[in-house]
Amino acid sequence: MCGIVGVLGRNEVAPIIVEALKRLEYRGYDSAGLATVNDGTLDRRRAVGKLVNLSDHLVHHPLAGKSGIGHTRWATHGAPSVANAHPHQAGPVAVVHNGIIENFRTLREELTAEGHEFQSDTDTETIAQLTCKHLAEGHDPREAARLTLGRLEGAFAVAFLFRGENDLMIAARKGSPLAIGHGEGEVFIGSDAIALAPMTNRITYLEEGDRAVLTRGSVEIFDAEDRPATREARTLTADQTRVEKGGHKHWMAKEIAEQPVVLADAMAHYLTADTFDFPPELPDFKEIDRIVMVACGTAFYACLTAKYWFEQLARLPVEVDVASEFRYREPPIGPRTLAIFVSQSGETADTLAALRYCRDKAAIVSVVNVPESSIARESDVALPILAGVEIGVASTKAFTCQLTVLAMLALRAAQDRGTLEAPALAAHVADLRALPAQISQALGAEDRIAAIARRLAEAQDILFLGRGAMFPLAMEGALKLKEISYIHAEGYASGELKHGPIALIDKHVPVIVLAPRDGLFDKTVSNMQEVMARNGKVVLISDSAGAAEAGAGTWEVLTMPRVAPVFAAILYAIPAQLLAYHTAIAKGTDVDQPRNLAKSVTVE
Ligand code: G6P
Repeated sequence: MCGIVGVLGRNEVAPIIVEALKRLEYRGYDSAGLATVNDGTLDRRRAVGKLVNLSDHLVHHPLAGKSGIGHTRWATHGAPSVANAHPHQAGPVAVVHNGIIENFRTLREELTAEGHEFQSDTDTETIAQLTCKHLAEGHDPREAARLTLGRLEGAFAVAFLFRGENDLMIAARKGSPLAIGHGEGEVFIGSDAIALAPMTNRITYLEEGDRAVLTRGSVEIFDAEDRPATREARTLTADQTRVEKGGHKHWMAKEIAEQPVVLADAMAHYLTADTFDFPPELPDFKEIDRIVMVACGTAFYACLTAKYWFEQLARLPVEVDVASEFRYREPPIGPRTLAIFVSQSGETADTLAALRYCRDKAAIVSVVNVPESSIARESDVALPILAGVEIGVASTKAFTCQLTVLAMLALRAAQDRGTLEAPALAAHVADLRALPAQISQALGAEDRIAAIARRLAEAQDILFLGRGAMFPLAMEGALKLKEISYIHAEGYASGELKHGPIALIDKHVPVIVLAPRDGLFDKTVSNMQEVMARNGKVVLISDSAGAAEAGAGTWEVLTMPRVAPVFAAILYAIPAQLLAYHTAIAKGTDVDQPRNLAKSVTVE
């Protein structure tokens, strides 16, 4: 959450910073701002709302300078207002920050008692005020920033710019990612490498506790113990940083459409002609008695789905938890436990904290989309999902790629533990390999789905029902719809409906039933009939056999290709995503940047 950028450039930096912030806007869009040093003068511009408001403001109030820092905000402390927008300035120093300073109250009281006057409600301003104090005490900017950083508790990525210093920027990371970009006679920082891609593809990632002192001609890095440190610079490929909508109206539409290709990529990575190709460090599942899976949001639903696969195919008990609960519950973790952390960004604060809780207690595997992320780097084995950059705040292709990688992992576990014979294993792999083509076919139903979505857009409440692995998908479908259309939606296990939620059913409540024609189909259809008997408007999503058998009397039927029942959740994610997308379009909401949300949640 929040994106930060910094540039010591050769040209005017305001347009460069705005361009880089555009690429970080997925991290938050409550306000944006930038500060520059121009001939020694430190000045800033800030605007509430999306970046476009800052761009407009800059047209009338331009900001010159070849050194600058910028910020796009997801509000934590203090409402989205100009006063709370970054950069925060105190006298000769300006600061941009991503994260939370947990001891900001103590620092603020201390500084206020000493006569410092705060202009905002933010935790970030304490960083600027504290640095201002150290400068007033006679410390030079490098030392002032170092002393300030030593007092900060919490998680942050931060950048400092100083009046009178045209060629100095200081940056630090603790808990939130930060990349340094190397140019020819210029240097950049950014919350991710994608922000810096138009300027450079030579990137150094700061490590936990690192502080970097940057000038146009030098990059000095100090580690958490304040020792000079060397961090590798790597050259990223165009694929790793490409972000183009490719003719689609929204990122989300593009990312939904990409799924056949990215799923095939993920499979090509982990499957050879006749076996699996996982890193050799992956534990032998024969040595594992139990799996705990931890994640947040959509990744949590991917874990809940995978529980069915690990338990049914590999006969391994699995416990799944949301990271924000897991980390504080202090669950006992036995030695023969495998802990799996799933995260698109690899930076989600709660998931990372849960991972650290498991360190030294269990083997740690992560399933991530960003291979350079903190979660990937702190795992014993990181399994990339190869979804490519995902920009839409509502996760789509990352979800199906997470599922695909977890399905392959479950099959590998079944192989290690001998719970599936070779022919059964091969059949399951063949079923997985069939998915990209089936997904392409499902995408062909988009117009039909859009028509159903236009009817759904009238609703106040929508329920999703599913059994087995369709139950977590029902919750994911409801989450997707809530996130982008703002319609209240809930996902329930079909059999649980009669224990309460059925009281909600009347002729105004659409109920989306995810029911491929599998072994549980008849049970789900009975629950569907209970809804119809109470005038609920059922949208049945099934295959042609299921539709023929149970479609009569429903409000709408949507037919999917036939799919192997075990992995049907991967295919049925497509209509769930498209229903949410087209309902949001029908309602005219902001699909890619829904209100109050951010893609990367680096605060608790
Ligand atoms: C945010 C995003 C969700 C995402 C969740 C977990 O809430 O809006 O789309 O599922 O964070 O993020 P992660 O990067 O850990 O998968």
